[in-house]
Amino acid sequence: MSSIALAHRMARLGTESAFETLARARALEATGRHVTHLEIGEPGFPTPENVVEAGIRALREGHTHYVPSAGLPEARAAIAETFTATRGVAADPAQVIVTPGAKPIMFFAILALVGPGDEVVLPDPGFPIYRSMVEFAGGVARPYALDFDRGHDADPSEIAALVGPATRLVILNSPGNPTGSSLSRAALEQIAEVVARQDRCTVLSDEIYRGLAYDAEPASITEIDGMVGRTIVLDGLSKMYAMTGWRAGWGSCPPRWSTASSASWSTRCRARRRSSSSRSSRR
Ligand SMILES: Cc1ncc(COP(=O)(O)O)c(C=O)c1O
Repeated sequence: MSSIALAHRMARLGTESAFETLARARALEATGRHVTHLEIGEPGFPTPENVVEAGIRALREGHTHYVPSAGLPEARAAIAETFTATRGVAADPAQVIVTPGAKPIMFFAILALVGPGDEVVLPDPGFPIYRSMVEFAGGVARPYALDFDRGHDADPSEIAALVGPATRLVILNSPGNPTGSSLSRAALEQIAEVVARQDRCTVLSDEIYRGLAYDAEPASITEIDGMVGRTIVLDGLSKMYAMTGWRAGWGSCPPRWSTASSASWSTRCRARRRSSSSRSSRR
């Protein structure tokens, strides 16, 4: 039997090692061993009862069909309202995209922005999917350290040295996986300055653990003047509401971006229609 020939890019795809560890932990549990789970990023409590009931009600009421590709308008409006309330920055529902879990926002942002040879500055230690996805897209990962001695805060001078004309994306994850600590407002301000010097550089701010910060409200780079216009925020319901299996995530994109793909698609369609009608009129 001939083997399946995979595309070259598949060799660049990494795995989320926490899921491999989870599978091994579950296998041990199946043999009767007691396991304390620290591997996977999810709360140890069930989805709240009112959420479960609302989900059941929605299914019974027939909300089981296609919805607009960016998400239900009511959901986008509610998310924009939450964004404004939590970050103190006005967000328009048109900037919000609802996705199956928050990871697609990571994939879409990297696939939309990073091409072969483009550089992405990302945290180390960090969520392994960032590097995997950047390399899958043909990009080059430039890690910055989150040292224990600095309380796992970023060192803006290190980021300044890494960010240059080839940088298309700076990834921030605050509160972060796996360190659990948040980036300081002072570091975010300096990172914002560094990013602002590069025309083609965008920030992906992964704020999925924001709802699990119990001491102080974490700062978001979007709160810094001018940064909403160059930041894609990733967030969702997975962690805060213990809804990891529901696959409910969202992203807030700079104004105009959330419609960029459909706009460029219709432009291409119009161009194709024009060229085929001019071909047929020549016949
Ligand atoms: C840092 C980080 N970002 C994003 C996600 C994605 O969450 P979701 O399950 O909603 O796709 C995770 C999940 O583990 C994560 O740890």
